[in-house]
Amino acid sequence: MMENSFYNFKYSPPESKFGGSLKALRGEVLSFVKDPFLYGESESVVHYKDGMVVIKDGKVEAVGDYADIAGSIPMVENIETFDDAVIMPGFIDCHLHYVQSPMIASAGDTLLAWLDQYTFPTEAKFRNKEFADEVARIFFRQLLMNGTTTANIFATTFPESVDAIFEESERYNARTICGKVLQDRNLPDNLKDKTAEGSVIESERLLKKWHSRGRQLYSVVPRFAPTSSRLQLKLAGELFQKYKGEGVYMHTHLNEAENEIEWVRQLYPEAANYTDVYASNGLLGERSVFAHCCLMKEEEWQMLHDHGCGIAHCPSSNLFLGDGQFKYWEAKDASRPCKVGIGTDVGGGTDFSVFRQLGDAYKVAMLHDRYLSGLRSLYMATLGGAEVLGLEDKIGSISPGYEADIAVVDLKPTEFIEWRLRFTDDIFSKLFVLQTMGVGMCVNATYVAGNKVYSK
Ligand code: GUN
Ligand code: ZN
Repeated sequence: MMENSFYNFKYSPPESKFGGSLKALRGEVLSFVKDPFLYGESESVVHYKDGMVVIKDGKVEAVGDYADIAGSIPMVENIETFDDAVIMPGFIDCHLHYVQSPMIASAGDTLLAWLDQYTFPTEAKFRNKEFADEVARIFFRQLLMNGTTTANIFATTFPESVDAIFEESERYNARTICGKVLQDRNLPDNLKDKTAEGSVIESERLLKKWHSRGRQLYSVVPRFAPTSSRLQLKLAGELFQKYKGEGVYMHTHLNEAENEIEWVRQLYPEAANYTDVYASNGLLGERSVFAHCCLMKEEEWQMLHDHGCGIAHCPSSNLFLGDGQFKYWEAKDASRPCKVGIGTDVGGGTDFSVFRQLGDAYKVAMLHDRYLSGLRSLYMATLGGAEVLGLEDKIGSISPGYEADIAVVDLKPTEFIEWRLRFTDDIFSKLFVLQTMGVGMCVNATYVAGNKVYSK
């Protein structure tokens, strides 16, 4: 197994899962408390130029100006100070496929052809637990070195692929969402579920094994309407309905590309629209997450709003695969706003960094003459993602009582960026330079439930 001393990762010590001593991080702190699409930008943000975050038992105990906090909590001895950096909530990736890590950046053709050519043969290898373990390990390190502390992850058909990623997440004590992918038609035999009934029984077994074990959460995951039989979608909906009260998720793809939508029309001619295929099977709810939503009809936005569903905006994937483009101004229409977070959609997406997706989100909006402010996009990458996942009272913000999942963003990742930022004072303008220039390695340190699990 490849080891690289360049990187510094550490599994969470088992004795300190939500434990550990009082500690504090000092530096510039930036966080969100509200949705800036719905409230004023200044109301939505918390910013301390010289701030301090106090962490106790893996949770945020206090946050504020250093001068105020240091006076009020004098017993903190373990203070880590970050200069030229911003202490932010860990990034939240609302949609990606860890099983596509071995084929990220594979070139050529439309979504459906790309799935056939690269994705399905790669996912078929995850029947082998050792292979799944290796990919899960490398993948998780990519998340953490990019400051991602929660991810809503697609595994694939095989239970081995689900166990591998949850086991790795557990070693870091990360809050991760995953589930067995349900797919019983229109894909190769070596990847297909044998029966709809068997696939959903297997999914329920994994749900009972993993849901709410430590910080792990389970999702019911029909890949997308074309790769599930009618019976499988129906049974998936029943499984979701049975467990959604316990915080189980539903996760799938929706309205990504023209040829996909046309295929759905042929397979489900009776449905009013693509969203209706999922709705009529009981798959819409407050913990339903739909990736893409690029080519939506007005009534489909309304359905997602009415059911409180979340959306993962995956701009680098949409550009790479030449799909439709997500229109945030439609999703956030004040008359029926929808919850929107960011997805890297690895391996359709071209980067593990949620932060770098924001540069693409800006450009996609500009293609439609719409301006997406850096502030709003950072919200989508943090608290907005938490809202999509129904976890906005636990993660996505550095606020008292929240789980201490934190990314420290480096404002000096390269010589040029350090120089460029001398000409910019405002913190959002600085972060905008970083997201736009697509600088890798722009995270100094990542904390999961208060434990430092990565440092540069
Ligand atoms: N739709 C169904 N499966 C996939 C997938 O693996 N990637 C993307 N981008 N879209 C999909
Ligand atoms: Zn996807």
